[in-house]
Amino acid sequence: MRDANPQTIYLKDYTVPEYLIENVELNFILDEQETRVVSKLSLKKNPQCKIANPALVLQGEELDLVSIAIDGTALDKTQYQQNKETLSIAHVPQEQAFILAIENTISPKANTALEGLYLSSTMLCTQCEAQGFRKITYFLDRPDVMTRFKTTLIADKDKYPVLLSNGNKVAEGELKNNRHWVSWEDPFKKPCYLFALVAGQLECIEDSFTTMSNREICLQIFVEKHDVDKCSHAMQSLKNSMRWDEETYDREYDLDLYMIVAVSHFNMGAMENKGLNVFNTKFVLARPDTATDSDYEHIEGVIGHEYFHNWTGNRITCRDWFQLSLKEGFTVFRDQEFTADQTSKAVKRIEDVKLLRTRQFAEDAGPLSHPIRPESYIEINNFYTLTVYEKGAEVVRMIRTLVGENGFRKGSDLYFQRHDGQAVTCDDFVSAMEDANDFDLRQFRHWYSQSGTPTLEVTQSYNQDKQTCKITLKQSSKSTTEEPLHIPIKVGLLNSDGSSAAVYTANEETADEIIIELKEKEQSFIFEQLEEKPVVSLLRGFSAPVILKMEQSLEELAFLLSHDTDTFNRWEAGQKMSCQVILGLIEDCQKKRTLQMNPLLLEAYKNVLQQPWDDLSYFSLLLSLPEENYLAGQMDVIDVDAIHTAREFVKQALAEQLQSQFQALYQQFHKDESGQFDAGAIGRRRIKNICLSYLMQLETEQNYQLAKAQFNTAKNMTDQMAALSCIVNSNNPAKPSCLESFYQQWKNEALVIDKWFTLQACSSAKDTFDTVQTLLQHSAFELSNPNRVRSLTGAFSQSNQLHFHAANGQGYQFLADQIIALNSLNPQVASRMVSALTQWKRFDNARQALMKTQLERLINTADISKDVFEVASKSLA
Ligand code: PHE
Ligand code: ZN
Repeated sequence: MRDANPQTIYLKDYTVPEYLIENVELNFILDEQETRVVSKLSLKKNPQCKIANPALVLQGEELDLVSIAIDGTALDKTQYQQNKETLSIAHVPQEQAFILAIENTISPKANTALEGLYLSSTMLCTQCEAQGFRKITYFLDRPDVMTRFKTTLIADKDKYPVLLSNGNKVAEGELKNNRHWVSWEDPFKKPCYLFALVAGQLECIEDSFTTMSNREICLQIFVEKHDVDKCSHAMQSLKNSMRWDEETYDREYDLDLYMIVAVSHFNMGAMENKGLNVFNTKFVLARPDTATDSDYEHIEGVIGHEYFHNWTGNRITCRDWFQLSLKEGFTVFRDQEFTADQTSKAVKRIEDVKLLRTRQFAEDAGPLSHPIRPESYIEINNFYTLTVYEKGAEVVRMIRTLVGENGFRKGSDLYFQRHDGQAVTCDDFVSAMEDANDFDLRQFRHWYSQSGTPTLEVTQSYNQDKQTCKITLKQSSKSTTEEPLHIPIKVGLLNSDGSSAAVYTANEETADEIIIELKEKEQSFIFEQLEEKPVVSLLRGFSAPVILKMEQSLEELAFLLSHDTDTFNRWEAGQKMSCQVILGLIEDCQKKRTLQMNPLLLEAYKNVLQQPWDDLSYFSLLLSLPEENYLAGQMDVIDVDAIHTAREFVKQALAEQLQSQFQALYQQFHKDESGQFDAGAIGRRRIKNICLSYLMQLETEQNYQLAKAQFNTAKNMTDQMAALSCIVNSNNPAKPSCLESFYQQWKNEALVIDKWFTLQACSSAKDTFDTVQTLLQHSAFELSNPNRVRSLTGAFSQSNQLHFHAANGQGYQFLADQIIALNSLNPQVASRMVSALTQWKRFDNARQALMKTQLERLINTADISKDVFEVASKSLA
């Protein structure tokens, strides 16, 4: 039964822990049906806690308690109290430390929520963030309780030959009945959410890394046997990450061993457990024929992310879960910069901003909008959000923009030095940045407490006599009671011949671009010594996560697209052009007017196609139209059909008019470079495949053959997927046979089969909804595997705007059915699936009613989890 009124936790209620756990010795007798846990906690009263004789309240859920003793004396049932979530002992020693020994059992096999100790295919593994440790044993399950862990694992030798936990292996041995044991010790204190154990039949790939102080670190990746040939990229990524963190932040790895385990059943991407990262297979396994270029890039990014957590998250952790962005925002910022350094800075920035603006902006404009440091939650798992992660990273990026690159390093040095070994707050991070730079971030701190995306309205005027240009910026947020934010805005000015104008402001040296700091609700900035009216390039590099409202003509945008020296704004100018044109066509669709292609947009595309580009990935982005979900974000009432029709119309027109250019590029860059993952080869594949997708728009026999030939001969997954995707989204008669042959080719590679599901779920083909229904019945579909659920249900509801939002509401009903089915199995995954319904207010009345009905159905479902309940009920509020 659902807790009718689930408890809300508030940041303002934070108090220090009453007790601390100095050390813990954990013993596991592992078995998939019943695992026995014996834990010995060295506890003591927290000297910072002022309460006299507080009860000791340990968290524990779904545990079977066997026995409990203090300093060797067993407690009887009158001496402790148990309920669904806690175990309380009213009287414990106050003056000196004491040992609390607890024995309990758990059932990994029954654990389909994948939190705590669970079975992933045949291996046992744990997931403890945020509050999964309490599903293993009773503990003070909060991040500000940091403990030294010693762990002994006992298991059957054949079923579980490999036994891993955090830190260093200190001893091992044999037992009777074909069992063995291994002991691990982690010398670093850590909160229990960073605890991990893994047991299974695993193969190990090994390498080493020599650190800046010449220590040799052993690197190990553990996978199932048939995946050993897909680990080399992950290993190289790990070494790149370790080097990068030394060079960029002066951070050295601190244990002698770094282990990564890839598991097939995982709720998230990966987990930074100390010395023993557990990864979703999706972010480890790659071979040229099984993984696309973007998979390769994501793997490197996630390996980097988890590795960087060792300093930003583990050595310095969060005081409480409201501070999640302290570790996640900063670590995402670090992994973004790492990827930018390994690949193309321009492309990486654009891709991050695309994600932010389509998904995070939508979240922040909807009913679940929250600050990057939330003030309350019902279920913390619901707060691993785009806001905490991606907007959190933008906030860190703005600090760097304000204090400068060197200042930022000074700030991070101070942060690491001050807080190593501590559990701290977002405010501590900002203070370190302030103190190291003598820079006032008081007003800036509002970014941590205010939700919603601010809007910046810009007006400009040029004064010929004074030769000045005045820019007026007005910031507004969703509520008028909010304080104005401190917003860094990077600006450049262009002369009419396309050259950069020097920027002069009062008492300020000239430069090619400057950062202006907006602090008031409305503020003007004057640029001097301008002989002619400049073209303003504002918010370069997307220097703040805001919505920019500025009147710009198509001519002005075309000019920026040709001349802006800022790679982000150059791309942005093209996107704004396409966006303006498509939004116009959307209106034409709605008013049943005939559609006509705008000649200026065509001209702009021609221009882009004529220029020589070094960075072909960047070139491909310039040729890409804004996605349907981005266009949706620009509309007051989302009209999915008109969006699709208008965008397809533009794509079609471009394909018709620029056919020969697309063909020539395709021929120029279509070659087999499988196995090459340098920026050059990736760029060539990318540009070639975008040309293919334009050409396929023409639906001609010749182009069908082109796609089919690429599909049949591809030796790398990027090319194979690109061709198949074109085929699936066209009327190509080869569609069923290609899908079938792809399935037969890859049926033993789960991650490739995920792609096969996703491709069909995202198709714009008319019969997609029926296809999705059929796929649900497919023998390869598995509700208990989160990757599979995301690849079908998740992809359809979150990436197929056109069909998910079908006017008859069948998409909504289907999603609610799936959420209800998932709810009892895996509440976390179920809850994430609700996100497609939370945007209901953005649609027309008929769709609103249909979506609302399904949300109401969810909250009225018996046994609904608090995860799903929180998201659904807040959506309706
Ligand atoms: N802390 C993980 C990360 O961002 C994410 C995660 C959260 C994984 C909760 C599992 C559970 O790297
Ligand atoms: Zn993280």
